[in-house]
Amino acid sequence: MTSSHRDPGAKGLTSPELGQVTPLTPEQQKALTNRRRFLQISVGGSLAAIGVAFAFPVLALKAITQFSDVVAEGDLIGDPGSNTPLDVGAFPVNTGVYSGVIGKSSQANENKLEVVRVAENGTAEDFRVFNRICTHLGCNVQPELNPQGEVHCLCHGSVFSSEEGAVLAGPAARPLPQLPVAFDDQGRLIVAGAYSSEV
Ligand code: FES
Repeated sequence: MTSSHRDPGAKGLTSPELGQVTPLTPEQQKALTNRRRFLQISVGGSLAAIGVAFAFPVLALKAITQFSDVVAEGDLIGDPGSNTPLDVGAFPVNTGVYSGVIGKSSQANENKLEVVRVAENGTAEDFRVFNRICTHLGCNVQPELNPQGEVHCLCHGSVFSSEEGAVLAGPAARPLPQLPVAFDDQGRLIVAGAYSSEV
């Protein structure tokens, strides 16, 4: 029987004119192996890239969630870095000071506080607690009161009442958001409700 009469599906046939399989040379086998490796690496890399693309939004969401850990009723006012409550006994009348929220991020704007002592009656009413982000363009108001006993912002000169945060001089158009406060059973200043307006 000649090669032209052989079964094309049979193994071991090598006739080129029938389009049949010919054994690979060592160089061809090496090239094929390299191509397979390249494909495996490409697929692995693509899967890793997809994993990273999903992981980053998850991490970003987690960070946002942590930063949303903002001031709430019952929180202790003081220095979150040292966990030190505000020393209300050593706080002179007609002075102001920066403060924060114990146990919560000092980075969140909602937790950036300006505390002012306006009286000396021994009650929580002696204190005013404002958000310290100026309602004009977001600078921090000054911790110290101006000579008139008012809260002020050096960026563009806005002035706010230290009693209720009302705008006394622009360009700010909105009062400073104020937090109601109370004393807890240890005489520490705590948050007693929500901000009077949006921070
Ligand atoms: S940011 Fe305070 S006056 Fe402009």
